[in-house]
Amino acid sequence: MRHGNRGLSAYGTTIFEVMSVLARERGAINLGQGFPDGNGPDDVRAVAARALDDRSNQYPPMMGLPELRQAVAAHARRFYGLEVDGEREVLVTSGATEALAACLLGLLDPGDEVVLFEPLYDSYLPMVERAGAIGRRVRLEPPGWRLDTEALASAFSDRTKLVLLNSPMNPTGKVFTGEELAAIARLVAERDAFAVCDEVYEHLLFDGHRHHPLMTLPGMRDRTARIGSAGKTFSLTGWKVGYITAAPEMLAPIARAHQFLTFTTPPNLQAAAAYGLAKPDAYFTGLAADMQAGRDRLTSGLRRLGFDVAACQGTYFATADIRSIGYAGSDLDFCMEITREAGVAAIPYSAFYVEAPPEGQVRFAFCKPAAMLDEAIARLAAWLERR
Ligand SMILES: Cc1ncc(COP(=O)(O)O)c(C=O)c1O
Repeated sequence: MRHGNRGLSAYGTTIFEVMSVLARERGAINLGQGFPDGNGPDDVRAVAARALDDRSNQYPPMMGLPELRQAVAAHARRFYGLEVDGEREVLVTSGATEALAACLLGLLDPGDEVVLFEPLYDSYLPMVERAGAIGRRVRLEPPGWRLDTEALASAFSDRTKLVLLNSPMNPTGKVFTGEELAAIARLVAERDAFAVCDEVYEHLLFDGHRHHPLMTLPGMRDRTARIGSAGKTFSLTGWKVGYITAAPEMLAPIARAHQFLTFTTPPNLQAAAAYGLAKPDAYFTGLAADMQAGRDRLTSGLRRLGFDVAACQGTYFATADIRSIGYAGSDLDFCMEITREAGVAAIPYSAFYVEAPPEGQVRFAFCKPAAMLDEAIARLAAWLERR
């Protein structure tokens, strides 16, 4: 047998899948993979269900249903004051995952350099490398995850083509500050680079934090692609409906990649996402408030058990330091052990760093019902008692 692609094969199966399989085998509460446990808003699902019967189920337009592209534009105007031409500046994709792949494959040439921030969401580096480009990683460290602007500047070179930014950031829960965004924007403009902004958690900010797309900063409008996800915004992660907003000249090569990746996305789900994006403000504030309550429940429970828990300003995830409970093994050992012995799954931070991960950090998802979070804390408490 010949080898499959060596680059992708080297990455193996992602830790999210490994932990989810183990969690299922052990009947563990899965606070590993980030998916909400409910079934999303009833009205959004009802629009999708009706559309299966009432509307065409044949290939929708390659750029996406016009109504969803207009809804993405209206949403950008409503929340960020961004004027977007839905017809020329929005592309619908099969999830943010495809959006990221289309941006990287569409914008990068072999030998280009990409600046990205570590800890890294799992698909970033494999897709950068699949495009033949080279990742230049800027490390963020716990507990503050502050961006070192000198390290950032030295990651740029004459070959830098693109910066890939995720804010609010998985797994840290960090929201990049105004100064950090300004520093990134300055370097992107100076180097005549692109920015690809993974903003899938744009509606999941807590404690009054506000989301400021990099695209709204001076000089960024025409060199930024902004990615959103209906999966995250409507707690329907299985839907895989994403959307990219970018100036027409930047969107054109991205659309070339998209047409050969998936070409299009199920029309009923697009119609429902369009409906959802037009929901009243109360829906979006309610989503963030529910998630903040989950964060508070989980983090206060973990702190009661003796874990140091880092500040979390957004996303689905909280980070705990296992050294604070006297755990001496690796983050991976810890996650395996609590999945098997306590019946609670989490994700080790080593999965998010290429090398030398910060010691003892694990990620717990809190996008779960209160009773499930309480049961997870009770199970961890019982496990700690037994140790
Ligand atoms: C940072 C980040 N980007 C992208 C995605 C993927 O989004 P989608 O499900 O829309 O493909 C996720 C999902 O967990 C994520 O956390």
